[in-house]
Amino acid sequence: MKHTSIALFSLALLLAACAKQAPPPAALAPKPAAQVDDARLAKADSEPQNWMVYGGNQQAQRFSGLNQITPDNIKDLKPAWSMDFDTNRGQESTALVVDGVVYVTTAWSKVYAADAKTGKALWEFDPKVAGPHAAMNCCDVVSRGAAVYQGKVYVATFDGRLIAIDAASGKQVWSTATFDPESTHAISGAPRVGAGLVFIGNSGGEFGGRGYVSAYKADTGEMAWRFFTVPGDPAKPDGAASDAVLASKAQATWFGKPNDYRGGGNVWNSIVYDPDFDQVYLATGNGFPWLRTFRSEGKGDNLFIDSVVALDAKTGAYRWHYQETPGDIWDYDSVADMILADLNLGGQARKVLMHTPKNGFFYELDRKTGELISAEPYIAGINWAKGIDKKTGRPIMNPLAWYDSRKQPFTASPGEGGGHSWAPTAFSPKTGFMYLQASDYSSARHVPRPTYEYVKGLDNIGTYHFTNHAPGQAAPNPDPNAPKPANYLLAWDPVAQKAAWKMPGLGGAVMATAGGVVFQGHSRNVVMGELVAYRADTGEKIWSHETPNAVAGGVVSYAVDGEQYVLVTTGQGGGSIIAGTPDVRARQNGRLVAFKLGGTATLAGDPPAAGPPVVVAEDFTADSVKVGADLYLNRCARCHGINAMSPNILPDLRRSAALGSKDAWRSIVEDGALQNTGMIAWKRFLPEGGAEAIRGYVAGQARVEAAALAARKP
Ligand code: HEC
Repeated sequence: MKHTSIALFSLALLLAACAKQAPPPAALAPKPAAQVDDARLAKADSEPQNWMVYGGNQQAQRFSGLNQITPDNIKDLKPAWSMDFDTNRGQESTALVVDGVVYVTTAWSKVYAADAKTGKALWEFDPKVAGPHAAMNCCDVVSRGAAVYQGKVYVATFDGRLIAIDAASGKQVWSTATFDPESTHAISGAPRVGAGLVFIGNSGGEFGGRGYVSAYKADTGEMAWRFFTVPGDPAKPDGAASDAVLASKAQATWFGKPNDYRGGGNVWNSIVYDPDFDQVYLATGNGFPWLRTFRSEGKGDNLFIDSVVALDAKTGAYRWHYQETPGDIWDYDSVADMILADLNLGGQARKVLMHTPKNGFFYELDRKTGELISAEPYIAGINWAKGIDKKTGRPIMNPLAWYDSRKQPFTASPGEGGGHSWAPTAFSPKTGFMYLQASDYSSARHVPRPTYEYVKGLDNIGTYHFTNHAPGQAAPNPDPNAPKPANYLLAWDPVAQKAAWKMPGLGGAVMATAGGVVFQGHSRNVVMGELVAYRADTGEKIWSHETPNAVAGGVVSYAVDGEQYVLVTTGQGGGSIIAGTPDVRARQNGRLVAFKLGGTATLAGDPPAAGPPVVVAEDFTADSVKVGADLYLNRCARCHGINAMSPNILPDLRRSAALGSKDAWRSIVEDGALQNTGMIAWKRFLPEGGAEAIRGYVAGQARVEAAALAARKP
């Protein structure tokens, strides 16, 4: 914000001065920017100095053709510059770089353009997202990125608008609502472009509603088509591109009565435009609500949840689909990045789509027909299915996994975090390996709820689930001999269909380079971060550099003036808000951080420890604390942390100044004093006296924390 206003102010002065004398020099007029079109995108690999689309190229391979940084010289890779954002919320963006300019989104769907050589901000665009809409998502007001095309930058806002921005000036060109502002949908994903269109989906698989993807004309914002991924009321077709196939293929896989919240199948992450077939692939999420009992009478495949769906890019007409987890009740979204490649399989050249959804299997599909080529487990511990039947394409189910129809708890592996979730994956045509973060033996214990009532505005999944990554929750796996979960970076050989190497560690997005390096973002202690590099061929760890915030967003590479840069967005978490840590830090703004060989910038240090817990003098009765604990778990924990333990990405309430004041607490919690920054008024979801009961519970947790800190002091 600061940079922009100063720059605009001095520009205004200059212009005012010029107006009196000569016409402004041509240098002041914005240069044409982001002149990216289909022809240029089709040959993106021939200009490795740029990173023009979310996935690096249209095949979404996240492979940089630059080779200046190698395992031999990587010890000299140092910070080149960093640029501060003006928000301390989760950052998950993949930056784009076109002709020396970086375009990046931040939390709250803001967009920056910055000089790729210096990190100097050129402009900032703030769409002023409606604060209360922040409550319509699991995992903070994150944005995964923008798209650039034909001189414009496209951003999809958390509250549902798709906006075209002039890439040179940072001014809005058009804006269109992709859903009603009152809707329970949200958008965290990046728009994608191709064939003159901008494609955008939405999230909402925990809040209700049907998922869909819309295509808009890139120049005018006029809607070209919409495709719903799950059917609505058969008596009321949508008048959308999906009508025919929902009627012919999907309706028969759903049971029970439709209503306005049942659905899911949200396309909240990966969309890929394939110029080879002029088709667009959608990667769809879980069904809503999670428990199939309440969405489909406990039966049916529920097309097109957890699927890859191929559409005609120009019309949105259905071409083929492949469903990865029919009837899903384990939260196995199929939203992971889809990577396209031309592979030689058994002596045959094939155009393949590679996919590593949460359910643990590595799928290779024929892009022309959707035919299943292979599906092998890429992680250990999968127990919901014994494998995938290559003839039918269906999972060979473990009958115990159907905890809905059995009405019995089931400990599923992987858990709802999956073998791999949304973190960007990479494919190197040089090594032939695909690289991704993976987890063995994660698990979640699913306990079916007997009854269900949908409440608009809350997350309503219709089941109880306990995971092994949220401290304080019930033990996930009753089997004491169950193997411990293991996290690692996986290099997978898609031709041999087996792992090439694994390196232990918990990281996020990866990128591979022609220099033979794989980069991956990590977090240290949840909020602080690290960029790590491995040899692409062997997995040997060869370099790392600490960053003040976690690296949860994409890693990209570009070049300016013959120098190769590696660029990351850093921010405190995002999806990791439920992770507890005893080490609570002050909240800090996110950043864009660039590295180059021989860089000389210094990064900010780690954020200091957060202030002490607030010790409240008043006493609360044990009964009210118990009520408060229950309300806290059901209403507040998803943002402020299980057991009121938050790494302070969203405020750690034990340290809130409001904790000591009944009135201040009530005005925030009941009346929404902070609703413009995402803390809504909870009055309508709390019983009389509920806010005060929660204050009593949090005050107790603060006292425990204060005692623990005192005990830790030497
Ligand atoms: C959807 C996420 C979300 C949920 C659920 C949520 N909050 Fe918040 N809360 C926030 C955010 C975001 C902020 C910080 C707002 C800001 O930075 O101004 C916040 C701030 C607060 C604060 C002020 C903290 C400070 O900085 O001093 C209090 C108190 C609070 N929340 C209490 C609660 C309680 C009690 C509940 C459950 C009834 C709850 N919140 C549920 C998102 C949430």
